[in-house]
Amino acid sequence: MAKKTIKDVDLKDKKVLVRVDFNVPLKDGVITNDNRIVAALPTIKYVIDNGGKAILFSHLGRVKTEEDKAGKSLKPVAERLGELLGKPVTFVPETRGAELETAVNNMKDGDVLVFENTRFEDIDGKKESGNDAELGKYWASLGDVFVNDAFGTAHRAHASNVGIASTGIPTVAGFLMEKEIKFVGEAVTAPKRPFVAILGGAKVSDKIGVIENLISKADKILIGGGMTYTFYKAKGMNIGNSLVEEDKVALAKELIEKAGDKLILPIDSITAAEFSNDVPTEEHSGDVPDGQMGLDIGPETIALFAQALEGAKTVVWNGPMGVFEMSNFAKGTIGVCEAIANLADATTIIGGGDSAAAAIQLGFADKFTHISTGGGASLELLEGKELPGLAAINDK
Ligand code: 3PG
Repeated sequence: MAKKTIKDVDLKDKKVLVRVDFNVPLKDGVITNDNRIVAALPTIKYVIDNGGKAILFSHLGRVKTEEDKAGKSLKPVAERLGELLGKPVTFVPETRGAELETAVNNMKDGDVLVFENTRFEDIDGKKESGNDAELGKYWASLGDVFVNDAFGTAHRAHASNVGIASTGIPTVAGFLMEKEIKFVGEAVTAPKRPFVAILGGAKVSDKIGVIENLISKADKILIGGGMTYTFYKAKGMNIGNSLVEEDKVALAKELIEKAGDKLILPIDSITAAEFSNDVPTEEHSGDVPDGQMGLDIGPETIALFAQALEGAKTVVWNGPMGVFEMSNFAKGTIGVCEAIANLADATTIIGGGDSAAAAIQLGFADKFTHISTGGGASLELLEGKELPGLAAINDK
């Protein structure tokens, strides 16, 4: 990587600021998926094993008002981290001030501290998400070196990533950031070929940038999920009651023309009269009849996609093929997972978000080379955009 990493700095006796992405799902104060915490462990362990004091911080959710703070404390995250590390983790329920400074100054080498949700600073004028220079400077003053391991937040210019780095404090990438850039970044910039991208999800609007960037980079682009029907409409096909983004139909037409043979659309759908798992399903080739909505790709499409994937050396997948949360409409996503899992000698990457959740929920997590921890960040990387959090890390 062209950026400095944690291995390029001396951590002994240092106060090491570590920006992690601990924006994990919580239900009634209980973490429902700790992947992002687990993914940050190599960096945290490296800091403590090398004699540093690990000062960790992250945003959690979106906080605009005092009321929004409820249920968004990092306390349960700090507790889970302590369990995973098998050692005490100090939690400071503040984002600045004497209590935080004293706790930092009392740390011994190898200690771990987590301070409160950085977006609690947003209530008073969006200081964190608006990259307030004073706030970045204040957080930088708490440490000697800054390790940015928050890939999931790298598409945001926050005070806790870009702001701290802008003060001139030595800024390096953690192991997770390095790994994400290696897999997600290199898939687009230096893929082993053939390179096949599989894009799904409900909306074309979420994937326009990715499709546009990949038209010149990928060898094949397979489309699935709800956005299929905006493409169908662009081709003049019948879509029944399927989801459609009317204002994107013209753009879908342009993308079809631009991509030519590279763009492969589903040839059949699993449909139902309602968005429900409790109504009868139907299978239709091509057009979706009136009164029905397409909720998954059909068996002919699964076979077509499996064939298109044969021999692929790089596969990037982002977005489920259907409403996988409902068992009647999960077969397409399972079929694509299986087809990817059967590839020999390919680098296979899931670009975070819903498709990562799908692969994990359907039991395919260990069949992929890399599952990204970034939703928005990996999409922006696939769009070919510069990520501000990454750009702010010192060059090698
Ligand atoms: C994510 O979950 O994608 C990141 O943590 C960024 O969160 P945000 O979309 O609330 O900025």
